[in-house]
Amino acid sequence: MKRRDAIAAVGSLALAGGSAFAQQPIIVKFSHVVTNDTPKGKGALKFKELAEKYTNGKVKVEVYPNSTLYKDKEEMDALNSGSVQMLAPSTAKFRPIGVPEFEAMDLPYIFNGQEGYEKTVKGPIGKGLLKKLEAKGITGLAFWDNGFHMVSANKPLLMPADFQGIKVRISGSKIADLYFRALGALPQILAFSEVYQALQTGVVDGCENTPSNYYTQKFFEVQKHITNSQHAHLQYAVITNTKWWNGLPADIRNQLAKAMEEATEYSNGIAKEENVDALAKIKASGKSTVHVLTPDQVAAWKKAFQPVYTEAQGKIGPIVAELMKEAGIKA
Ligand code: LMR
Repeated sequence: MKRRDAIAAVGSLALAGGSAFAQQPIIVKFSHVVTNDTPKGKGALKFKELAEKYTNGKVKVEVYPNSTLYKDKEEMDALNSGSVQMLAPSTAKFRPIGVPEFEAMDLPYIFNGQEGYEKTVKGPIGKGLLKKLEAKGITGLAFWDNGFHMVSANKPLLMPADFQGIKVRISGSKIADLYFRALGALPQILAFSEVYQALQTGVVDGCENTPSNYYTQKFFEVQKHITNSQHAHLQYAVITNTKWWNGLPADIRNQLAKAMEEATEYSNGIAKEENVDALAKIKASGKSTVHVLTPDQVAAWKKAFQPVYTEAQGKIGPIVAELMKEAGIKA
């Protein structure tokens, strides 16, 4: 090969190499602990679909559901170290990163129904919570809904006295710890991925969660009685690593933000129906009896929970009073 040709060949190789390099997609790992077949699971897949579409394939989203990549405790560390780019933990799981204020949303009966919940997350309280993440190097992108909690055991849980001495799995929130203790139960923190086995083997007697989680994790197969108490709400904050997010090319970041906005609308839009469907399937299975509380029973639960609000103010701060005001709850 003549010298001139050799230079041309090297040049075109460099060009080809350069363009191949430029075409390497940006990988976004999105890890979560529930199945694909839940409001959060479907929301993550919708984000993948839209993010890949809006960026014309410049971004590839890898969704790791059902604790296949990280469990509850590990995922926050993974976000911090850059091993994963997106998570959607429940608000019960923010204390370890130093933002316990999120737990205020786990308080019992703290929202005036679904409408109250939506008003809170879209308003200054929700925005203020996401802003608190900034100091931790985390960017809060959205809140995703998963409806109201049920509670279960192998016996009916209808009055506070029924909780006396039973071991109940909680996901980490100090608030759930307080309210189950107020009912006389013994709360225990366990990773979500360990709940089924813990219920099956009697490590714990009961748990709380939403119908979609009971159904997709099969908790209803190992709990004979479920009370659709709606005593607290389950919501997630979708979060990303700020350094990574801000380091993205601006056009890509905007396209991802648009994909997130639409995936959020989608996930929040299906949450109610997914939970209604899951509850119907649980009932149809005949494996668990689903109870609904009478107004008198609800009143007894509310009375038992009363000290929790004052205790929560001490543990979490002024946001508790703000939420109580919105819900019309007096300490
Ligand atoms: C739990 O741990 O009970 C839930 O937060 C799991 C989830 O992400 O819905």
